[in-house]
Order: sequence, then C-alpha cells, then structure tokens
Amino acid sequence: MNILIFGKDGQLGKAFPSLFESATQLSNIQVQYVGRSDCDLSQTDAVKQCLIDAKPDLIINAAAYTAVDKAETEVELAFAINAKAPEVMALYAAEHGATLLHYSTDYVFDGSKAGYYQEDDERNPLGAYGKSKAAGELAIERAFSDSARGQYAIFRTSWVYGVGGNFIKTILRLAKDREELKVIQDQVGVPTSANWLAAVSLDLVLNSNGQLQTFDSGIYHAVPPGETNWYALACLAIESANAAGASLKLSQSAIKPIMAVEYPLPAPRPMNSRMATEKLKQAIAAAGDVSKLQRWNKPWSEDVQAYVQQLAKDGQI
Ligand SMILES: NC(=O)c1ccc[n+]([C@@H]2O[C@H](COP(=O)([O-])OP(=O)(O)OC[C@H]3O[C@@H](n4cnc5c(N)ncnc54)[C@H](OP(=O)(O)O)[C@@H]3O)[C@@H](O)[C@H]2O)c1
Repeated sequence: MNILIFGKDGQLGKAFPSLFESATQLSNIQVQYVGRSDCDLSQTDAVKQCLIDAKPDLIINAAAYTAVDKAETEVELAFAINAKAPEVMALYAAEHGATLLHYSTDYVFDGSKAGYYQEDDERNPLGAYGKSKAAGELAIERAFSDSARGQYAIFRTSWVYGVGGNFIKTILRLAKDREELKVIQDQVGVPTSANWLAAVSLDLVLNSNGQLQTFDSGIYHAVPPGETNWYALACLAIESANAAGASLKLSQSAIKPIMAVEYPLPAPRPMNSRMATEKLKQAIAAAGDVSKLQRWNKPWSEDVQAYVQQLAKDGQI
C-alpha cells in the first residue's frame, strides 16, 4: 500500500512517522512524506503531479493554511491551499479508488450554538480561514458525490498542539518573562493533541494488520473528551510546568481572565467550539476493534499535562 502524507513539517504531519514505524512492520506499507519544498499546495499542477508520481492508495492531507488572522488579507492563498488543493486530492482519490483523510476545523461554525455541534450542523464560518476550510469540505464532498470509487474522512478538530507553534507553547514562553498575563475565558473548546488526532485517524482507516479498511465516507468530529476555555488551559499549562520543575516568572494566580471582546483580533473566532464525537466513536467500533475506543477514555487534560511534562524534560520551557 502506498501512503502519501502532505504537511510533513506541521504539528499533525509530525505525528505520523512514529505511528507508521510499527505499522510498516505489519504489512507492505510504503509511506511518502511531502513538505512545502516537495509540493507547493498553492499550485494545482504541482499537487496533481505529486499524486501521479506517488500513486497513493491512501492520501493524508495534514497540510493547511493555518494563519487564521493573516488569512483575512491572504484570502486567495488560503482558498488555494485549503479548498483547491484538497479538491484536487479528492478528485484523484475518487477517480483512482483511493482513500483520502483530510482535516478541518471548528472555525467552520459561527459558535452561536448553545450545545455541542453535530457533523451535519450548518456551516457558518466567521472569517476567511474558516470560509476556506468550509470550501475545502464542500469540494471534497462534491468530488466524491460524483463517483462510486474511493472513500474519504474529513476530521474536524480544534485547538491542536504538538511539535510546532501553538497556544500552550506561547503561554509557556510568555510565562518566562511576564509577571502578569490576560487570557480569554469566554471561548469554549477542546485542546487536541496532534499525536492523539493522528492515532484516531488511523484507527478509522487501518485494521489491526495495518491494511486499509472500509468506513462510511463523511465528516467526523475528532476531539478528546471534555471541554475547557483558553484561560483554564493557560492555568493548567503553568501548573503542569511548575510541577515538572520549570522555572517561570509567571505564577498561576497572576493569569487574569478576560472576555474575548477585550482582546479583538483581525479574524473573529467562534465562542463555542464544542463538537459531538459519537459518530466517529461508533464508526471506529463498527470497524471491528473496540479496543481502539480506549483512546477515548482519557480526558484532554491528561494529554496536555503529559505534553508540558515532555516539553520540560526536553528543556523546551
Ligand atoms: N492548529 C490548530 O489549532 C487547528 C485547529 C483546528 C483544525 N486544525 C486543522 O488541523 C490540520 C493540521 O493543523 P496543524 O496544526 O498541524 O497545522 P500546522 O502546524 O500549521 O501545519 C500546516 C502545514 O501545512 C504546510 N503548508 C502550508 N502551506 C503550504 C503550501 N503552500 N504548500 C505545502 N505545504 C504547506 C505547512 O508547511 P511549512 O511547515 O513549510 O509552513 C505546515 O507544515 C489542518 O487542516 C488545520 O486546518 C488545526
């Protein structure tokens, strides 16, 4: 089986190699990792050529234009990478009977819903990034709706952290020099470990022998159990860093909660990013290996604590 992974240098992209190290020993799997210098996703022809050369049975698109605020002024580029490139991948998969795994975001919603978003809730993105990601979802759905071949999963996730820049690392960096920090309290969501997300994606698509399995094509919400807000997440990051022996100037009590309206940004963010995950859990269970559901027993906070501990151990705080 040929696997092609776009976005090798991103947080999610960097989570796959360790997972495939064991899978490649199980069966005949060749994985090709592609970064920006190998294939510029803003260039349609480059994406097509990359697919033709790699002849993938499984395409994993971990690449994206993720600069949420910059997207407001780089709309065309955001759409090229987040909508056009995934469309090209989907058309290839639908034509050649391949499987496509793609990633999307809570930002396709406006955040005005009171409860948990379901997969089929109406999209209403607030900013250019969210609009480009929503357009990508629609393009993939369209490409496969015209074909009886291939299959796809679009994993909508939120607040991703891994190897690379993210909110937790920003807070820990600021905590080294600042004595006080204001963090938004009234936006609710779920921090998602890139490692967890990559593992859950493969749980849906590969069987225990590392071979491709069939699943119902569609959108799946993929976030770990629980919910929080940015302020509480910042507090946990500081608490975990202190417990791991890091030397920080900022104490947890010096983090002040503020409202989102007090911290305006170029792109508006959804106030509620909570997404229901029953559909994905049921699909993974239906594929036959219920032991994979153990991943869903751990609340998001345990992975954040372990992540911060690892950063401290690696001397990154
Ligand atoms: N980060 C979050 O909080 C978050 C939240 C919800 C959903 N998501 C979604 O989750 C997925 C993974 O996100 P992530 O956090 O891993 O993102 P990330 O760390 O920003 O990585 C994105 C990757 O895409 C690559 N890329 C950007 N433009 C490209 C281009 N023109 N050609 C080729 N590669 C290009 C980047 O390359 P370079 O390394 O060269 O820049 C980078 O390696 C994305 O679909 C994202 O929309 C993320």
